[in-house]
Amino acid sequence: MTVDPLIRSLEELQARALQELSASPSADSVERWRVAYLGRKGHLTLVLRGLGSLAPEERRAVGAAANRVKALLEESLARAEEAIKSAELHALAEQGRLDVTLPGRPVPLGRLHPTTQIVREICAAFVSMGFQVVEGPEVEWDRYNFEMLNIPKDHPARDMWDTFWIDRVDEHGERPMLLRTHTSPMQIRIMESTRPPVRVVVPGKCYRYEATDATHESQFYQVEGLAVDDGITFADMKGTLYEFARLLFGSERRVRFRCDYFPFVEPGAEMSIDCFACNGQGCRICKGTGWIEIMGAGMVNPRVLEGVGYDSSKYTGFAFGLGPERIAMLKHGIDDIRLFYSNDLRFLGQF
Ligand code: PHE
Repeated sequence: MTVDPLIRSLEELQARALQELSASPSADSVERWRVAYLGRKGHLTLVLRGLGSLAPEERRAVGAAANRVKALLEESLARAEEAIKSAELHALAEQGRLDVTLPGRPVPLGRLHPTTQIVREICAAFVSMGFQVVEGPEVEWDRYNFEMLNIPKDHPARDMWDTFWIDRVDEHGERPMLLRTHTSPMQIRIMESTRPPVRVVVPGKCYRYEATDATHESQFYQVEGLAVDDGITFADMKGTLYEFARLLFGSERRVRFRCDYFPFVEPGAEMSIDCFACNGQGCRICKGTGWIEIMGAGMVNPRVLEGVGYDSSKYTGFAFGLGPERIAMLKHGIDDIRLFYSNDLRFLGQF
């Protein structure tokens, strides 16, 4: 048997297929064409399957021809599909359903909360002076939050910290746990677990049972600081806190210390900077005084040192506590602390 008729019928098959394909106007008709010629039971597939019954040399010649036809049909199919897809896109664009000139939708970008930003800035200032950053629990023992800070039970100084108590009573009928009212209990935890020299800052959340208004929140942040070593003086404290004020508020600011009372420091002080809004002239922000209080501080009370087993005749130290939200309010002119906790994106988006 000669292979000529077989080859000729393949050529006819090819011509018919190409002609039908060029007359296929849609994705559907192209798909039908694919099934008819190249599908599992398609014309060409049947020819290829039938090769097995031919003599070897016939099979080689017809097989090669059939494969050429197959390659050509597949290539034409790909081109036809491509053409239909681009025609469809074109039609969509023509109908105005897809305006490729429209600007894209903006992707909303997150950012750090202003409190996080200021806490990091404050910590970085102290880290640059050799302090380490440590964190501690928000649920505390009365012992750490008060007693070991020289604030015994029933001492009137407890009124300085309105407390959320945890509703659990011990065998003495007392409530031993609370939400920490300040970060100062970490002074005790740190000194209990290390020996001098100590140089740490402790950022963290605190809670007070307080009516909320523009300058008071029942939850807020503090950053505590503690430095204890052989020979630390009040001058070291002033130098450290001056440098902090310079880093955060710039070298033009003047700094003032005045006496203040906290049971765990002696002497105790409050530190103020001159008002950056009015340069100390007196304005709404500084309530006419020209000064803005930014933290409490003092020399660690020897009774606190003795309580954690430090030899107070050898070691001295200073401690300080500041309110990051308050500092952020001063820096950015924010007039209501509640904004930090209300998750209003119009507010948060400004930082
Ligand atoms: N813990 C004090 C407060 O919350 C602040 C403070 C810390 C004062 C350390 C002196 C030393 O008010």
